[in-house]
Amino acid sequence: MQQLEGAPDRLVVEVLPRRASTLAHDVKVGLTATPKWLPSKYFYDEAGSLLFDRICETEEYYPTRAEAGLLAAIAEEVMARVRPTHLVELGSGPARKARILLRAAGLRGVRCVYVPFDVSDSMLRQSARALLREFDWLRVHGLVGDYDFHLEKMPQGGRRLVAFLGGTIGNFTEEEGASFLGRIASTFGEDDRLLLGTDLLKSRAVLHRAYNDAQGLTAAFNRNILRVLNRELGANFVPERFAHLAFLHEREAQIEMHLRAREAHEVRIEHLGLRIPFEKGETIRTEISRKFTRESVERLLAMAGLELEAWFVSPEPSFALSVSRRARGSRSSRMGA
Ligand code: SAH
Ligand code: AVI
Repeated sequence: MQQLEGAPDRLVVEVLPRRASTLAHDVKVGLTATPKWLPSKYFYDEAGSLLFDRICETEEYYPTRAEAGLLAAIAEEVMARVRPTHLVELGSGPARKARILLRAAGLRGVRCVYVPFDVSDSMLRQSARALLREFDWLRVHGLVGDYDFHLEKMPQGGRRLVAFLGGTIGNFTEEEGASFLGRIASTFGEDDRLLLGTDLLKSRAVLHRAYNDAQGLTAAFNRNILRVLNRELGANFVPERFAHLAFLHEREAQIEMHLRAREAHEVRIEHLGLRIPFEKGETIRTEISRKFTRESVERLLAMAGLELEAWFVSPEPSFALSVSRRARGSRSSRMGA
């Protein structure tokens, strides 16, 4: 655990142990599969996090604006209703939305501890410092790590508002998402709540633009995953040999991002002792981004042992925020809950 200069009592950043073998294992599984794929969490090194932040500023990528606008409209109501002792934000990234929630908390006299949890160390520290400058009452306990492995590091006890925003739940399959939310729900007591952001299914044209911005930032973000593999696993990908592809898979109600080999070639991954052949036109699926309806959100929550308490939708292009609680009758692993 590490205290940071400038705000010794108000900022603590806990860096959770990294499993070096995870990336190697995931890449081996994904790139030797047919069709090839990679987990999207590997986009977010320092460069990838900065690129994502810039994507959020583009005119085409509406989810950030839609969700932030909606959050600003409902944050006080949510804070007044939950009165959390801890605001835990999973995949906090640049923490734009935490700022909205914390402002509302301040207005409602709720003095909660902010717990950002993200794999991106640099982004977490930078955004935490900015929040501490803005809110003189705030304490931040950052968790740097992979929430797929370290969910138990979330604070226990008190009243927790666990925020999972940006539509990041859409980057999981339904089964993965239900299992992930289920692990969170199993720690919930009576007073804990989940604030979940979900992008809603809409026209192909709007979705297509959002993932194919004119500046090419999404394309650069997509290719960045290959740079991560080059650096971390001694691979020799030439990112420019792959074209960015993002399209709506209508039946699955999801955007898929792929990298498509412009020509047949072979890539070496030194640390894995692997040679990966690519045919011309062959793709690596790098991300799914599922788009929801109220029904599919309620189904997901039910699979996770949660029940909807409140549902809010932004003006078009539509994005939803939901507040949910542990379903009555479902078991909690939390002592005394
Ligand atoms: N919630 C923010 C950021 C969304 S981008 C927003 O709404 O704008 C997704 C964020 O999740 C990134 O900051 C990324 O670093 C983080 N992330 C992705 N997979 C993760 C994992 N397995 N563990 C922890 N953080 C993860
Ligand atoms: C973080 N996540 C919700 C983003 C999304 O829209 O699925 C990541 C992203 N991919 C391309 N652009 C943004």
